[in-house]
Amino acid sequence: MAYRVVLVPGDGIGPEVAEAARLVLAATGVDIDWIPAEAGSGALERTGTTLPAETLDAIKGAGIALKGPITTPVGTGFRSVNVALRQELDLFAAVRPCRTLPGVPTRHPNVDLVVIRENTEDLYQGIEFEEGSEQAAHLRTRVAELSGYAIREDVGVTLKPISVQGTRRIVYFAFDFARWNQRGVVTVGHKANIMRFSDGLFLKTAREEAANHYDIEYREAQIDQLSMRLSREPQSFDVLLLPNLYGDILSDLCAGLVGGLGLVPGANLGWEYAVFEPVHGSAPDIAGTGQANPIAMVLSGAMLLRQLGEMRAGAAVELAVDAVLVGRRVRTPDLGGESTTMQVAEAIAEAVRTGPAG
Ligand code: NAI
Ligand code: MG
Repeated sequence: MAYRVVLVPGDGIGPEVAEAARLVLAATGVDIDWIPAEAGSGALERTGTTLPAETLDAIKGAGIALKGPITTPVGTGFRSVNVALRQELDLFAAVRPCRTLPGVPTRHPNVDLVVIRENTEDLYQGIEFEEGSEQAAHLRTRVAELSGYAIREDVGVTLKPISVQGTRRIVYFAFDFARWNQRGVVTVGHKANIMRFSDGLFLKTAREEAANHYDIEYREAQIDQLSMRLSREPQSFDVLLLPNLYGDILSDLCAGLVGGLGLVPGANLGWEYAVFEPVHGSAPDIAGTGQANPIAMVLSGAMLLRQLGEMRAGAAVELAVDAVLVGRRVRTPDLGGESTTMQVAEAIAEAVRTGPAG
């Protein structure tokens, strides 16, 4: 029987890389019944909302989706569809494996780490008070009463909520992930010395939960020092466990370590649903030109196959990506080549069909 998987192409380069991933996944022979669903600007034009209820219902029905990036206009008060989706489906864990790929020149060899990002809380929760608003004024008054601190009148505020519950489950998830993926060390990034009650709580909860997982080593690093060490000795890291904002920032940094955003896949996971998407955004600067590297989306598709239990097919896609990269002939401009998105996809699909020996 075919697997039912929702496909959300998204905006910008989304539809291009989604088509590419579909082509590659089809080559594995795994029977997938794709259920198309809209989100982002296309959905806004057609339905008046960027995240239609029918899209959420489709994902809830199938339980699993492959999603392209969705544009979030900067500073417009327009809620990010990506953030909304993660919250609505309680996809509390983002998993982003960053490994050195063969044939891709980078500053550091042999990087193999996984960023695990808490996906629902922190500065990303979306609780904000606009400068000049009545709410901001109320907040200032309450804060002055409660803390004795005077905040400037012309202030805009974003809250950073971090809870014990929200932290405990992501820490549990990270250790569980490490165990199932033969990884030995989990490093928590934080700034608990300054943000004692948010990052501090994250760290305290992480320590408590880590004590239940004696088979995996637990380490801590301040986020600024961690950034420096990642840029110098990324090989010394294994699983990085990060609160939401730090996870967002270091995901892109780690993508840079292994050759750029065009290469790094991701999964957003909760207890009930799974949405696979690349780390990169909608890349409006190259949308529609056929220059987008489909590999991040294709590898997100490989992670999806593994989630479905199709381990061999997932591995076949990953090996096919390696084979095409090693060949160095077919690659998109971000990797110094001249091939188009679909040419890369076709080469990977062909490598899937012929297999590693072919
Ligand atoms: P971006 O990741 O879209 O682009 C950053 C740079 O990387 C650009 O120069 C782009 O051309 C390049 N790039 C990204 N993916 C590539 C690929 N597959 N192949 C070749 N080059 C690639 O980040 P940016 O510009 O900050 O964001 C653009 C939009 O995407 C924004 O509206 C942002 O909110 C949204 N976004 C959405 C995400 C999602 O849907 N999960 C994640 C990140 C950003
Ligand atoms: Mg990001």
